[in-house]
Amino acid sequence: MYMNKRQREMSLFDQSNQKYILGTLSNTGFNVEDLENIDGKSQYVCQIVESGLTGVIYKLKSNGFYNLKRKRKTSKVKNVDGQLSFLNELMCRSKILEHQEHLISLKNGIIKTIYADYRKGILLSEWIDGEHPEVLDVDWIQDTINITLDLQKIGLFEWDLSRGNILVKDNKVKLFDFGYCYQFDPLVDYNSEGVNEPRFHALERLETRYLMLELYKNQRIKGKAEMLQLYKEIKMAGIKSYLDHNKYLEANGASTQVLEHFHNIIEEWRKGISNIQELEKLYIKDVLRSHLLDIHDDLSGKSCTQNTLLRIMHLKELTDEYQWNIIAPLVDYNKKEKFLEDLHSFHEGALKYQHS
Ligand SMILES: Nc1ncnc2c1ncn2[C@@H]1O[C@H](COP(=O)(O)OP(=O)(O)OP(=O)(O)O)[C@@H](O)[C@H]1O
Ligand SMILES: [Mg+2]
Repeated sequence: MYMNKRQREMSLFDQSNQKYILGTLSNTGFNVEDLENIDGKSQYVCQIVESGLTGVIYKLKSNGFYNLKRKRKTSKVKNVDGQLSFLNELMCRSKILEHQEHLISLKNGIIKTIYADYRKGILLSEWIDGEHPEVLDVDWIQDTINITLDLQKIGLFEWDLSRGNILVKDNKVKLFDFGYCYQFDPLVDYNSEGVNEPRFHALERLETRYLMLELYKNQRIKGKAEMLQLYKEIKMAGIKSYLDHNKYLEANGASTQVLEHFHNIIEEWRKGISNIQELEKLYIKDVLRSHLLDIHDDLSGKSCTQNTLLRIMHLKELTDEYQWNIIAPLVDYNKKEKFLEDLHSFHEGALKYQHS
């Protein structure tokens, strides 16, 4: 199986017996054996969340509430990154711990790690009092963009901004799942793919993993005009955060290439919000990109849901609603027939790999 450098290094570490421990259990009321032996019957357990693909989550009570993430023997995401995601999460948590005390948004917006032992497959954190977002409110969206960009400042690029990985309370966000967050140099790279993949960035990640599907659900209830208004507000939030981020990058000596990259994104969004025709063009582009990427991701990890099917349905609808000459330049397809054929096989794959 092909592995990139990061994956090879992580796999070697995984196969070694080297210890990997973060933090301390003092003041928690637990010892390592307690955590190793936790199961549904333990006195400490007050809630179990089984939905995670990497780990099983236990809400524990001792002198306060805690979150214990127990590594699954094999991740339900059946590709290399899926199998390495628990190790990856620990590596990111370690880096976040280094910076959390002096970066206020990381202190407020990122989970506090208390203790982890990779070989025992345990990760203990604070319990976050919050809910997954219910409505698309621009305040929490702005907060998510800002926290994600602050992670980028410390050299971490978060890829998996799905709804299940965001908890919100009073429109304030906490991020807590770093299974698919990789290191990069924000001053010379666009993301953890270096400068090879300019299409991936903070708001794109949130749109691709979550917002574009949610906007579609919104449109089905409230209509297109209201959905587009919300989409415009999201882009305005993006412009605001990206302008600040670019100032930071400039002040810290980022390369001209990186500064131009962000500048171009901002300009594209500015044009997009300038009138309704431009807005709709930008919207179609984001929908096509988001759904195609996410469908490929789900199929490659063999982990599809009803949402995968909904995305495929939306793409099919777009081909009915818009002329092919509008769609063609935004996708890697010359012929509409081939696009429709692929949508059909995506649909069959998504049915086959439904896991919930
Ligand atoms: N610290 C926490 N406080 C409250 N709830 C949490 C916490 N950590 C996780 N959860 C809940 O457990 C769920 C699964 O957690 P998490 O995303 O860390 O697991 P995962 O196996 O990595 O998930 P994924 O399927 O995204 O790979 C979250 O969606 C959230 O609802
Ligand atoms: Mg998760």
